[in-house]
Amino acid sequence: MSDADEHELPGDLPRDDLIRRMIRVDHAGEYGARRIYEGQLAVLGRRQDAEPIRRMAAQERRHLDAFDKLIGERRVRPTALHPLWHVAGYALGLATALLGREAAMACTVAVEEVIDEHYAKQATRLGAADPELKTMIETFRAEEIEHRDIGLAEGAERAPAYDLLTGAIKAGSRMAIWLAERI
Ligand SMILES: [Fe+2]
Ligand SMILES: [Fe+2]
Repeated sequence: MSDADEHELPGDLPRDDLIRRMIRVDHAGEYGARRIYEGQLAVLGRRQDAEPIRRMAAQERRHLDAFDKLIGERRVRPTALHPLWHVAGYALGLATALLGREAAMACTVAVEEVIDEHYAKQATRLGAADPELKTMIETFRAEEIEHRDIGLAEGAERAPAYDLLTGAIKAGSRMAIWLAERI
């Protein structure tokens, strides 16, 4: 084993395990994102102002496709909680959309703020390791920040109980990340 192979990133996991864990959680997260927008579009998709939601949904599908490809190429075990993200993502999208378009946008803002932090942390942790994954993370992070800004521009902060709503969604998203990294 060369020195480079023995090099470990800060933290307790060896580099390969850490990278697998990153791919697993990101794949799960992008899957959840796709399901959130599917739930939102089930309610709001026929409205004339559905275009921004459709655009974000299309971008999430591209993120998911990229992680689908990577998880296959690297032979990473996907999260065992796939059925949970399938249901929970859709339910979150549906429920917020039923509260109204602004609540759906608040959901986007909350989720994307957590994902922005999450991808930033991963990019820092990777350092110079795994440039392929790092480029994906940085590209997608920039697009998630765009989604947050779209949510804000589309009136997220006018949603009923904005602070409570976004606080709850952020807490749920952080828990989902914690679980998807491990299970
Ligand atoms: Fe995404
Ligand atoms: Fe996004």
